[in-house]
Amino acid sequence: MRKVETVGLVGGGVIGAGWAARCISSGIDVLVFEPKSEMHDRLRESVQKGLGAIRRLTLSAPGKEGSLGFVGSIEELATNVDFVQESAPENEELKMAVHAQIDAVAAPDVIIASSTSGILPTLIQSRCKHPERVIIGHPFNPVYLLPLVEIVGGEKKSETVIQAAAEHYRNIGMKPLICRKEVPGFIADRLQEALWRENLHMLAEGVGTTEDLDDSIIYGPGLRWAIMGSNQTYHLAGGEQGMRHFMEQFGPALKWPWTKLEAPELTDELIDRVVDGTEAQAAGRSIRELEKLRDDCLIGIMQTLRNFRTSAGLVLAENEERAYGAKACKRWSTSDDVSKPLELYECNVRAEWVDYNNHMSESFFLLAAGDASDALFRYIGDDEAYREAGHTFFTAESHINFVKEASVGEPLKFTTQLLGLKEKKLHFLHSMYHAGSGELLCAVEQMLIHVNTDEGKACPILPDVYEALQAIWTQHQNLPQPERRSREMSV
Ligand SMILES: NC(=O)c1ccc[n+]([C@@H]2O[C@H](COP(=O)([O-])OP(=O)(O)OC[C@H]3O[C@@H](n4cnc5c(N)ncnc54)[C@H](O)[C@@H]3O)[C@@H](O)[C@H]2O)c1
Repeated sequence: MRKVETVGLVGGGVIGAGWAARCISSGIDVLVFEPKSEMHDRLRESVQKGLGAIRRLTLSAPGKEGSLGFVGSIEELATNVDFVQESAPENEELKMAVHAQIDAVAAPDVIIASSTSGILPTLIQSRCKHPERVIIGHPFNPVYLLPLVEIVGGEKKSETVIQAAAEHYRNIGMKPLICRKEVPGFIADRLQEALWRENLHMLAEGVGTTEDLDDSIIYGPGLRWAIMGSNQTYHLAGGEQGMRHFMEQFGPALKWPWTKLEAPELTDELIDRVVDGTEAQAAGRSIRELEKLRDDCLIGIMQTLRNFRTSAGLVLAENEERAYGAKACKRWSTSDDVSKPLELYECNVRAEWVDYNNHMSESFFLLAAGDASDALFRYIGDDEAYREAGHTFFTAESHINFVKEASVGEPLKFTTQLLGLKEKKLHFLHSMYHAGSGELLCAVEQMLIHVNTDEGKACPILPDVYEALQAIWTQHQNLPQPERRSREMSV
């Protein structure tokens, strides 16, 4: 299948806009066919909101974003893109017709994926000439933040297509879950629907209000679900013997059963109860305000999970590492021109770095500079292997010179100038600039001691790393002294 550089989005509502933001942030150009032209401005606005959330989520430096364009027909879209993602209204007949239309004109190596929440792929591909390239790629709202996408193939599926689609979704920061069987509702919605059915039963029976039922999730099981699903959670609930003990203890209760399984009658009274209840819970907050709360919390949760390299946090970390690897600074080599301050690191101001003024708090200037030091270490060859062998640099002294504030989401870039080098000591200054305006925001000057971590004492920098530093220092000692250099520090 082809390399995906341009994605075509059929339908530009809630889900189409989410796909657009996710693709654009990954550097993919997007073409949209949305029949209601009045939706175009709304889509542009939603894309900006989604891009803002992605920038707050990720540690990756802002890469080149893709473009956003609109086309007037499905034919124009399908002949100009490498991958089609259909997000038109949930209607079987409409989906079958739209997919037949796309399939009739798209080149055979273009994958066509449907965002449908539950319509079977065999049905959707039934009128297509190349049914094997028509699959389900079911995302979750908000698409620009949640990584899950369920891939489902139909009766005429092709393993090559499934794997190529999974690769595309991974490249845009997602977790593809390949469903092993085609079933209505796929996996996640089937589980969600079971819960939702019980929720409605309990509401109808007066067991609890919408708020009580939501509380039963958000203060308990919901907190666990971002980390472990039902299976792993219950494995832990079985104590030392795990799932086997859990099944012995709670298995019989499944036969009682606690749950109703059949959907409740959707009476007017029940609909009023669920609508009035959720409106009361919103307490006057608009959908937009609640979306912002949801997005901010999702970002915080995923950033925390990233620290533990688990579930959605692992997907985020791996995506950032891929992005970093793609433009990672190469290792120093003798042919490198190091006559100017080194440009090794870029990032965005993260949401948790700013205070109540929306300005970066002072301690985070040092944190960002620490990441710039990591980039320098990698460049000179002080990597995982170097550290595992028992060598590293410890910071002995730091001076920060604050020049200008930075706000959340703003792009930063660093330059690094060596100010001194000795057998066991390294002295440098990072200048932090606004990557857009080029203004200097702060300077962080540091003195580092090279140590043998096994012995816990200073030792000479090892030859390969020293050679790289010496080559840089030979050039940098001829540079003008940085304006923000402190007067107190020297090797
Ligand atoms: N909303 C969700 O939470 C969610 C989650 C996952 C998947 N989905 C699925 O994504 C799809 C889209 O859902 P949505 O919530 O974005 O709906 P939506 O109503 O917000 O957007 C659908 C858009 O499709 C446009 N449209 C109508 N006819 C079209 C046609 N013939 N060709 C192209 N576009 C057409 C509409 O004008 C509208 O802007 C559905 O299949 C839905 O099941 C929705």
